[in-house]
Amino acid sequence: MQLLDGKSCSQQIRQEIAQRVAEIKATGSRVPHLAAVLVGNDGASETYVAFKVKDCQEVGFDSTLIRMDENISEQELLDKIGELNADDSIDGFIVQLPLPAHIDENKVILAIDPKKDVDGFCPENVGNLILGLPTYVSATPNGIMELLRRYQIETEGKHCVVLGRSNIVGTPMAILMSRKSNPGNATVTIAHSRTKNLAALCRSADILIVAIGKTEFVTADMVKDGAVVIDVGQTRVRDSSKKSGFRMVGDVDFDKVKDKCSYITYVTGGVGPMTRASLLQNTLKAHSRL
Ligand code: GUN
Repeated sequence: MQLLDGKSCSQQIRQEIAQRVAEIKATGSRVPHLAAVLVGNDGASETYVAFKVKDCQEVGFDSTLIRMDENISEQELLDKIGELNADDSIDGFIVQLPLPAHIDENKVILAIDPKKDVDGFCPENVGNLILGLPTYVSATPNGIMELLRRYQIETEGKHCVVLGRSNIVGTPMAILMSRKSNPGNATVTIAHSRTKNLAALCRSADILIVAIGKTEFVTADMVKDGAVVIDVGQTRVRDSSKKSGFRMVGDVDFDKVKDKCSYITYVTGGVGPMTRASLLQNTLKAHSRL
């Protein structure tokens, strides 16, 4: 079993981006600028957004964090998005999800200018992804593709099972893996909570990408010998033995599954850092206008 080290891969990507930023600076041009909107005080979202700001600083991007109260109206958030769309000093921005229940996420996503949608969530960008046109690919699937590419994992003709069908991960992941590309050219099955004979289906996967949001859902009996297993799950579980008071648990039962795999990601240092690096790549793209 070989661990797919997203941490070191993402460091490499960050170095490449920092190098590009140095070149941009040397020409006297403005550096890439990412803004993040955080509504409310959800603990996990606070952490994710703090990482995004830190990542920007590390590679030399400008960043702006916009905090909005949990109780703001949907219109106030839409107005803020209008401002960010019109602000020429900002190349791209994200609105951290999930949003409070009284705000319609779809309305918010639709309000973002597709040219600044570095999350790749807008219909125009998702449509471009399906058509294979230049776009911002949503960060997690893009990071996974980059990980497969950098480890030169053979995907052509393989059976790839994507567990989970979210707009952010499962659906774009399946499209990317089935595309005529490398990595890609896989035969893809999207599985979800209503799929019958799920364990047997997973066992038929050469590449199993798990984004189902249920802790340690994938057990050893669901994994083929020699499979490549990518765990997107990251759930905070209370753990008083940890200084932070919690630990991260993936969607894959890592300890039981790892010895069956040719390659596997761990809950930390796997997909997460690659997702963060992808957002930086998309912001750089936005700066150079795709
Ligand atoms: N919440 C969880 N993942 C993401 C992400 O990739 N982008 C945004 N905007 N919110 C998220």
